Amino acid sequence: MKTYKIAVIPGDGIGPEVINEGVKVLNKIAELDSSFKFDFTYFPWGCRFYTKHGKMMDDDGIDQLKEFDAIYLGAVGFPGVPDHISLWDLLLVIRKSFDQYVNLRPVKLLRGAHSALANTKNDDIDMLFIRENTEGEYSGAGDWLFKGQDNEVVLQNAVFSRKGTERIIRYAFEVARREGKTLTSISKANALNYSMVFWDEVFEEVSLDYPEVKTASYLVDAAAMLMITDPKRFEIVVTSNLFGDILTDVGAAIAGGIGLAAGANINPKRKYPSMFEPVHGSAPDIAGKDLSNPLATFWSASQMLDFFGYEEYGEVIVSGIEELLSTKELLTPDMGGTATTSEVGDKMVEIVTSQIKGKVLG
Ligand SMILES: NC(=O)c1ccc[n+]([C@@H]2O[C@H](COP(=O)([O-])OP(=O)(O)OC[C@H]3O[C@@H](n4cnc5c(N)ncnc54)[C@H](O)[C@@H]3O)[C@@H](O)[C@H]2O)c1
Repeated sequence: MKTYKIAVIPGDGIGPEVINEGVKVLNKIAELDSSFKFDFTYFPWGCRFYTKHGKMMDDDGIDQLKEFDAIYLGAVGFPGVPDHISLWDLLLVIRKSFDQYVNLRPVKLLRGAHSALANTKNDDIDMLFIRENTEGEYSGAGDWLFKGQDNEVVLQNAVFSRKGTERIIRYAFEVARREGKTLTSISKANALNYSMVFWDEVFEEVSLDYPEVKTASYLVDAAAMLMITDPKRFEIVVTSNLFGDILTDVGAAIAGGIGLAAGANINPKRKYPSMFEPVHGSAPDIAGKDLSNPLATFWSASQMLDFFGYEEYGEVIVSGIEELLSTKELLTPDMGGTATTSEVGDKMVEIVTSQIKGKVLG
């Protein structure tokens, strides 16, 4: 029997609540399949750990994580610990150390989900954002000079290497070709006269290797508008770290809300573990009340199953989410329901069980 070793970092706030439910669903799928299982190891890292130890994770944390097949992360961040510390000292360290240079964020209006856009059909919103995840505007390069003085200067440099830019664009072309979809590049070459002119040039160059892929290229401001006024034109989208971060929140709003948005941080060569997480944060305002919506965490579990080659189970989870959304029987308050996090998790286990048993019997 194949065993997948998963490092679980529940993190802060609602992180542990939603991760519990995701683990429940993954375990049930493995049990029903019986050809593989998950071996989950929990790490207590996050803001509570920081308060006790003055650091977000163990000093050899990256070494400890190296041996796992994947990382399943809830959310990090909590009042009392500055957000740039919780983000940089845990999440971004993992993304960068494990060269998880692809951030995959589906922006898809599932059956039953409520879009912030009026009169939208499910088919109108079906995008996959491929966001550069290790450099660009989030490279962390810069300086803070003459702090607190009259001549204070802050420099935050964006870093676009040829290797980093080309590989993310090439990855996106591969996905677009495999799926027979269009590829849209989003940049800002009119204002960012080095980095984004370079990005556009690399996009043009790489496109020559994929003549069968239909492409489009937009400035980020126009793209933000078009995602609202004409979302159908976007299929596969490739963009930089910052632009992808912002635009996928627009995506979350038009595709059912932040409680549904999932993301995978992929090391395509599989040299290091990839990491799967909901896009939302630790939601301190509702933490500990069993009110958080676990659907995004389920969707990221489905991305993990896809990554391991169990696409049929990935699909079972996504259609399970659609069933929950469509019947509206058991949804958390952010989705207009009254169910608790664990009730939604239990229902999801029931749905995937009946779907998988139905498939086997059928
Ligand atoms: N990937 C991550 O770990 C991550 C991402 C974003 C923010 N953060 C951190 O989380 C903390 C809070 O940030 P924020 O308030 O800007 O964003 P947030 O996503 O935590 O919350 C924004 C709003 O959405 C609601 N919400 C979010 N997820 C929900 C869910 N699953 N179910 C129901 N409601 C949900 C919250 O209650 C809140 O009203 C900060 O410390 C921030 O740095 C972490």
